[in-house]
Amino acid sequence: MQYLLAPMEKITDSSFRHICHKYGADLTFTEQIRFETLVKKTKSALERIKLHDDTPTMIQIMGKDEEKLDKFMREFIPERGFQGFNLNLGCPSQTYVSQGIGSAMIKRPTKVKRMVDLIKNYGYNVNVKLRLGVNLTEKREKVYLKLIEKVDADFFIVHARYRSESYERKADWSVFPECVNTGKAIVANGDIQTKKDVEKMKEIGCIGVMIGRAATNNPLIFGQLKDMKLPTLESVKKEYIELCNNRDINCSENELSF
Ligand SMILES: Cc1cc2nc3c(=O)[nH]c(=O)nc-3n(C[C@H](O)[C@H](O)[C@H](O)COP(=O)(O)O)c2cc1C
Repeated sequence: MQYLLAPMEKITDSSFRHICHKYGADLTFTEQIRFETLVKKTKSALERIKLHDDTPTMIQIMGKDEEKLDKFMREFIPERGFQGFNLNLGCPSQTYVSQGIGSAMIKRPTKVKRMVDLIKNYGYNVNVKLRLGVNLTEKREKVYLKLIEKVDADFFIVHARYRSESYERKADWSVFPECVNTGKAIVANGDIQTKKDVEKMKEIGCIGVMIGRAATNNPLIFGQLKDMKLPTLESVKKEYIELCNNRDINCSENELSF
């Protein structure tokens, strides 16, 4: 079973990823960024994908312009720690959805397949993070299954909610068995917190679990789920702040609550 730290805007900076990996997370993800922005190579864009150490990290990208994706891949230079790319098909932001990206792309398996193949042709690993659709209608049409079936990504992280569904409603774990039945490698995401939750996902046949919000209060959650010997949360917080200071990351800007 793989334990993945979810990408979270203003939270999963390189210091937080380092801490979560040190104390149990097998794989981490950068905060999302558009590849149409990355090709411009501005300092702020490149900083978002900078890997400061060898923490295993997937760079999360989103966008729709395939020529720009190709240009970005052609010019990309991997750093240590880089494990591959994650394509974000989950972002619920109205700005992005109205431009046809983020969760608006779940219903476009042919385009997503082309983009995944393009990245693979550069020799990089690539996985996809998706929701169940933009709305209940798309969920009922099972657009997520069609995408998983058609696209040849290394694995699929399924956040078991549709785009307009709020976090107050529990993620719908009943979709995971049909996702696993496609024969593709599935990582479960949405409200996973306890050993019992992880056991359930293992029984269903998921290859991993991705944890987001539960880690923001407690970055030791991965180690706890794995029964690792761990320091106190207080000392880990100090370690995190020190790392941020060394890396010029402004901790006060992020929304951590541990
Ligand atoms: C503050 C915040 C920021 C997020 N930013 C991203 C992001 O940049 N990319 C992404 O794919 N998902 C993002 N998500 C979604 C999470 O990765 C995850 O799918 C979601 O929180 C469900 O998992 P959880 O129930 O374990 O928190 C974000 C979620 C939160 C709460």
